[in-house]
Amino acid sequence: MSVLNEHFTLSNGVRIDKIGFGTWQIPDGQEAYDAVSYALKNGYRHIDTARAYGNEESVGRAVRDSGIPRDEIFVTTKLPADIKDYDRARASFEESSSLLGIGHVDLYLIHWPSPQPGQDHAEGNQAVWRAMEEFTEAGRIRSIGVSNFSIADLESLNRTARIRPMVNQIRWHAGYTQDELTAYCKANDILVEGYSPLATGKILKHPELEKIAAKYDRSVAQVSLRYLLEKDILPLPKSVTPERISQNTDLDFTLSAEDVAFLDGLEDDRS
Ligand code: A2P
Repeated sequence: MSVLNEHFTLSNGVRIDKIGFGTWQIPDGQEAYDAVSYALKNGYRHIDTARAYGNEESVGRAVRDSGIPRDEIFVTTKLPADIKDYDRARASFEESSSLLGIGHVDLYLIHWPSPQPGQDHAEGNQAVWRAMEEFTEAGRIRSIGVSNFSIADLESLNRTARIRPMVNQIRWHAGYTQDELTAYCKANDILVEGYSPLATGKILKHPELEKIAAKYDRSVAQVSLRYLLEKDILPLPKSVTPERISQNTDLDFTLSAEDVAFLDGLEDDRS
């Protein structure tokens, strides 16, 4: 079965497609519109954007123009990192909602626990979460979650949360698998979504991965994405290249335990 027809189920029962189309670094305007339109034509039904990417307007327009029924498409957007109070969180959601112009938002995430590393915004995150819970109860958002949250950030949020986060979207790729955080999320029924599953492209020239890919007659990108699926992590590959956008959903193969173990042991290559 194609990965395009497979889904995870969030802790509130909402279904989410197993692969999403990432739009980070795709400029607003024609480029984002074309990439999302192409992705939708080629079977993607899950699109990931953010207020901070600046491309919500084009993403929303591509969704509306696709002719695909709204309830067949899953759209995620995110509250900017610097917004840590209730009123501005409400206003920012309204802004995203109006730029997207697609009715409800399927998944809304706090983009970062703090605007700068090392700052403590535990109370601010609790305040914006309250706004997100209210929009959820009002039917404007179907599911809520976080991004880039550590275990400590999740625990602070859960001290006051009435609705538990359903997703943590984190950087996740071979060589950067965030094992402790991933295990914590799984144990707490939080789906892990992996952004930069190709290490923003840096993984693609790895000579050992090229050998593995050749064995399966696949590309390094496909092996890297398949690796996330083997680990029950939802990959969000980004591309503006039609052939790659399609290739990234052609993941109907299984990696051997030996190859998964090799990928588990890759060095962190984020430099
Ligand atoms: P482009 O957008 O020019 O097609 P990540 O998802 O980890 O952020 O990686 C995105 C980067 O990987 C982009 O530079 C993208 O290039 C490139 N990329 C995406 N899919 C593929 C693929 N199947 N083969 C080669 N490069 C890819």
